Amino acid sequence: MTQVSDAGPAPVSTEPRMIPLRRALPALVRDPLGALVGFADDAGGEVVRLNLGSFRPYLVSHPEHLQRVLRDNVANYTRDGDGLLWRPVRRIVGDAILVAEGEIWESSRGALQPLFTAKRAETLVDRMAEAINEAVDEWLEPARDGRPIDGGAELTRIVLRTTMRVLFADRISVPDALRISAALDTLTTAMLPRLLVPFVPYAVPMPRDRAFNEAVRTIDEVVLPIIRQARANPSDGDDIISTLCRPRADGSEPDEYAIRGDVVAMFSTATETTIALLSWLWPVLSNRPDVAERMTDEIERVVGADRVGREHLPQLRYGRMVLDEMLRLYPAGWMIPRTAVGDDVLGGMRIKAGGTVLVSPYVTQRMSTFWDDPTLFDPERFAPERPRRRYRYSYFPFGGGPHQCLGQYLFLLEAQLIVSTVLSRYRFRLREPVGLTPRLGASLQPKQRAELIVTPVERPVAS
Ligand code: HEM
Repeated sequence: MTQVSDAGPAPVSTEPRMIPLRRALPALVRDPLGALVGFADDAGGEVVRLNLGSFRPYLVSHPEHLQRVLRDNVANYTRDGDGLLWRPVRRIVGDAILVAEGEIWESSRGALQPLFTAKRAETLVDRMAEAINEAVDEWLEPARDGRPIDGGAELTRIVLRTTMRVLFADRISVPDALRISAALDTLTTAMLPRLLVPFVPYAVPMPRDRAFNEAVRTIDEVVLPIIRQARANPSDGDDIISTLCRPRADGSEPDEYAIRGDVVAMFSTATETTIALLSWLWPVLSNRPDVAERMTDEIERVVGADRVGREHLPQLRYGRMVLDEMLRLYPAGWMIPRTAVGDDVLGGMRIKAGGTVLVSPYVTQRMSTFWDDPTLFDPERFAPERPRRRYRYSYFPFGGGPHQCLGQYLFLLEAQLIVSTVLSRYRFRLREPVGLTPRLGASLQPKQRAELIVTPVERPVAS
């Protein structure tokens, strides 16, 4: 395979192989994620093109090509805020950090970056641990009565309480956060009909438009008064809303619409991705009692009867390896689409200007071309003593290059705290078995709901 590592195009190029409509479409309808992994593996990581009628995206899966798209030649691969695929998303978040490019993106990223340094994330650990313990205390009652709890809803509550406290300084209450979260859920499903036929103009009504508009109204009802209040009473607080309401480094003052977009985008990405990834914990651990046992043994040894705190995290090594493996098999941000601005060449294959490029951590992280026994859940892959992976971009759950996830470090601390707090205080079993099949949405979640029966961990009382 031609190696591509610098920004200059390779001299020789051919058209990528096209997967015909009669093969691509039925496979994608039957099992979209499995089909994409299959196409990429069959091509051994070469770029292929999917014929989906008028839409013919390039599937880019080789780590060297991903590095070029996300980092080395990033100027050529934009998030295409004006593209059809992004249109429904932009109706909610405008030009926010998650979809913008150029100066607007730089301004938002510059404002938010200081909130997400590793050093600052460390200072948030105690407050996160406190919020998580408060949320988990509420399981004592159902545990005593033997009442099942909804694993997904409970994680949502834990993550919202924690995120509102440490990133939003409790400016958004937990009940309001639950309203926003439910509205965002409605938006994601309500935008699907438009995503399937992105060329239909907004003047033409589509099913679920009304649900979409109502959800946008709900979000505005909650968020706009909070922003107005924050702008009327400027503070030097280091929460997301105070930060976004301040003038930017270049002296410009963002308007209410721009702030709302960034607030909603930050709310959604900080909560939805974390909830999605952690909701795999229940099916994964119940499918793999051996992994669950090693985790609880480690927690017993490191934390014992204490409350999980900052000092324990570096020693919870196996727990971290389990999270890394969950991010490999179930990366919440499973698709990172880009649009080629100009022509380019990836591994000898021509990419035409204007083409959609599909980049997917899910696909590359499950390819047998780059991973041994890729569908096996094996945290040992991430043991610190293992040799470094050959390719940086064979594992990229947080993206890469200038758009790399801002919340990566915070997420890893928060997720470790949540998982180890839950497992140090409760044992759980599933009321009904839950499969490991994903439900496709903005982020990747298990298809089935997990109902849990929890029991508090009994420890001898010190005399
Ligand atoms: C399981 C957890 C998470 C995963 C898998 C994840 C994944 C990603 C990925 C793949 C990107 C790149 C998007 C692109 O290149 O277009 C990204 C960007 C981003 N993430 Fe995350 N994320 C997670 C959690 C978080 C959290 C907790 C926060 C905030 C607290 C966050 C904030 C952001 C932001 C602001 C960006 C955009 C950065 C930019 O464009 O400059 N993420 N994330």
